Amino acid sequence: MDEQTTLPAPCAGLRIGDIAPDFEARSTIGPVRLSNYRKRWLVLFSHPADFTPVCTTEFVALAHEAAAFEQRNCALMALSVDSLFSHFAWLRMIRDRFAVEVRFPIVEDPTLVIGRAFGMVSAQDNDSATVRTTFFIDPAGIIRAMTCYPANLGRSVPEMLRILDGLQAIDARGALAPANWQPGEAMLSPPSQDLDEVYAATDITGWFLRDSGGEA
Ligand code: BEZ
Repeated sequence: MDEQTTLPAPCAGLRIGDIAPDFEARSTIGPVRLSNYRKRWLVLFSHPADFTPVCTTEFVALAHEAAAFEQRNCALMALSVDSLFSHFAWLRMIRDRFAVEVRFPIVEDPTLVIGRAFGMVSAQDNDSATVRTTFFIDPAGIIRAMTCYPANLGRSVPEMLRILDGLQAIDARGALAPANWQPGEAMLSPPSQDLDEVYAATDITGWFLRDSGGEA
């Protein structure tokens, strides 16, 4: 294997089920510490750079939906390598141009120490921009889902909310969320682990593909 194939890819540093690494950093709402967000859900996401087109659309979209995250007991926290003062200037521009205030914290990570801990930047990157990584962290501080998009593809805020809804419904009901699941739709029961139930099922899929009953 050459050196390129052995280097970790963005998003590869951490896995679902890991405790999110703690950090303290300056942000647009003052100093923040990740572990202070326990007891709430947290969506921690990186963006490649301030004052870039796709990132600007993401922040406008997220600011518009900030209340929807609050309703789900979920905080938002953004991060990039840009300085605190760059973040301030960008938020001011967003407010003046798009008439929306970004009130969730944007962390500065000029040394990449946080980005590296979270696998948001890979060792082979020849610049310091993070990819669009999103971590969904539960109230116990455990990473429950993550997504990784390239710089030229903006995230979907409805999909971020759907992931959050799905994780919360899974926890509340001990059920499984099927493909394209949306809140209010049926969920699935975990499959049987009992051979007698497998043989006793009235149809061939009845022991593993079954509605959990009720609505999420
Ligand atoms: C953007 O947000 O538009 C962007 C950021 C970095 C590279 C390319 C595009």
